Amino acid sequence: MNLNQALTQDLARVAPLYERVKTVIPDVEWPIHARYVAAINDLKADRNAVILAHNYQTPEIFHCVADITGDSLALARQAAATDAEVIVLAGVHFMAETAKLLNPGKVVLIPDQRAGCSLAESITAADIRELRRRYPDTPVVTYVNTSAAVKAESDVCCTSGNAVEVVESLGRDEVIFLPDEYLANYVAQQTDVRIIPWQGHCEVHERFTAPELEQYRADFDDLTIIAHPECPPDVLGVADFVGSTAQMQAYVHRERPRRVLMVTECSMSDNVAADVRDVEFIRPCNLCPHMKRITLANIYEALESLEPRIEIDPGIAEKARKAVERMLAIGG
Ligand code: 13P
Ligand code: SF4
Repeated sequence: MNLNQALTQDLARVAPLYERVKTVIPDVEWPIHARYVAAINDLKADRNAVILAHNYQTPEIFHCVADITGDSLALARQAAATDAEVIVLAGVHFMAETAKLLNPGKVVLIPDQRAGCSLAESITAADIRELRRRYPDTPVVTYVNTSAAVKAESDVCCTSGNAVEVVESLGRDEVIFLPDEYLANYVAQQTDVRIIPWQGHCEVHERFTAPELEQYRADFDDLTIIAHPECPPDVLGVADFVGSTAQMQAYVHRERPRRVLMVTECSMSDNVAADVRDVEFIRPCNLCPHMKRITLANIYEALESLEPRIEIDPGIAEKARKAVERMLAIGG
């Protein structure tokens, strides 16, 4: 079979998948993706692998090769439940580490090791030890956007989808909440528990501004603004709804606003728009350069070579796993 025949065959095989993304991927671009989509879906079956993709992955990954999609909480829960032998985490490094913590005996792959996170970079295990010295009896609630070494120093993890519930589950008057200062601030507004924050920020969400959003409101009638709690407080003050990426997605599916502006990473709107075609999306999005390191090409390479793998020092993993499992036991 020559190259043209092979491409024609692949295009026919993956045509039903293109139906899912045709409103967000131009037809001239699709043949480039189609070959990889077909090859990845074949290789996944050969490897007994599952692909977990975060809501910020591009539509050709999110809708065409992922088996499970969601926010960080859903990905952690699904990682704990899978019986596949290999897990490919289409997302950032801390998400792959969480999957490995919950599956120490499985192969967990991150297609590009450099897919980091500015929040995870903002704090170290030594920083937590210092906080514990300053606040000796105060529990530490750690956002999952952190390294395994930081989780290992923590009492319990949380995500943006369950942060208030986790904080209140401890039954204490005061908690240390890190590393996202804006999420900490958002949680503090919804609970009587006193929150001691850290000064970490998401480099993507901190770029949105309230005047920018107010201008969109002035320019577009009947606009619903929904925002991720990693945004600065004045941005959240302009929003009609605040929630994790999964909660934002569910909001659009449920409420069907006439026009929506999702104050978050760019691919989120594309992925929701592919499914919800009766809503107009206004898109002043910001790109997460770390999420965008993951591509169909490096997912394919990871599945073929079974590299790069996530490995975690067993001493760290044991303690970090407890903090993650404690969160999963709380619900949310
Ligand atoms: P979610 O848990 O809401 O998906 O957020 C993860 C993240 O990295 C947001 O920037
Ligand atoms: Fe980290 Fe922000 Fe990127 Fe999410 S969007 S992975 S918090 S840098």
